[in-house]
Amino acid sequence: MNQRPVIIDTDPGIDDALAIAIALFAEELDVRLITTVAGNVSLENVTGNALRLLRFFEKEVPVAKGAAQPLIAEFVDASNVHGKTGMEGYDFPEPDMSLLLEEHAVNAMRRVIMESPEPITLVTIAALTNIALLFAMYPEVKRNIREIVMMGGSASRGNKGVMSEFNVGTDPEAAQVVFQSGVPIVMAGLDVGLKALVLPEDSEEIKNMGKTGDMAWHLFRRYRGGSFQTGLKMYDSCAIAYLLCPELFTVEETYVEVELRGSLTAGCTVVDLKNYLHKTPNAKVCTDIDGEKFRVWFRQALAKCI
Ligand code: BDR
Ligand code: CA
Repeated sequence: MNQRPVIIDTDPGIDDALAIAIALFAEELDVRLITTVAGNVSLENVTGNALRLLRFFEKEVPVAKGAAQPLIAEFVDASNVHGKTGMEGYDFPEPDMSLLLEEHAVNAMRRVIMESPEPITLVTIAALTNIALLFAMYPEVKRNIREIVMMGGSASRGNKGVMSEFNVGTDPEAAQVVFQSGVPIVMAGLDVGLKALVLPEDSEEIKNMGKTGDMAWHLFRRYRGGSFQTGLKMYDSCAIAYLLCPELFTVEETYVEVELRGSLTAGCTVVDLKNYLHKTPNAKVCTDIDGEKFRVWFRQALAKCI
């Protein structure tokens, strides 16, 4: 099978952990590099978590550490959602330090992108700081990027602020650089993330799916992205679901810009679905997801893990 080469930029993160699990065991994907960025918790913690996950999954994917803080905004983490360590609830093995590159994430991404014979897909499931730095430092990489599939933004409400989604709201300037970059973008934001739920009956089934299922169940008990009883939000898995099962989504091509200065709206994505601004579309925005089909897909995808 022709595998699709991807780089995952992440801040694990409980929902990141599940998205990474699915990506690592999907035969359609070739995860060439994992890069980390401060977000759900500190850079040190998210990098350690990525390395813990790789040891847990017995996978040898190189990891490169990226930005420790947003470009301009003050850094505020989401440890209230993911716990102090970012993956609270499960006793993970020690990080596999042999996988940690000495290169900075931006340099590692540049190398992997430029060396690849086929264009790379960037899967971003965290703040966009590393990607903005990559485009500022090495704009030539854009030629060999197939698309960015992003969990971030919202065409409606926020989850960091009234209007701002966490990944875009954490580093709005970086997100704006990415949306204005000219690289094809798929935005799987809160419009789908809030509906990509794991219900209690799913958790019960997942619990018995080998060691990944057991790990997931323990993380689910601790995760505060939604509620164990009424539905846990698998935001970051939406980006992976788009790659593996795009038919789950309703997609509209439109223009997106990030509000940088609004006193109540800074960090929100302005998604011009009605074309008020008469701008050329710069993103495919996932406006809806079939939640029932997502639940089935998610369970089947997790069942492929060890
Ligand atoms: C995003 O914010 C983070 O807390 C999650 O990991 C996800 O990437 C959802 O808004
Ligand atoms: Ca994340």
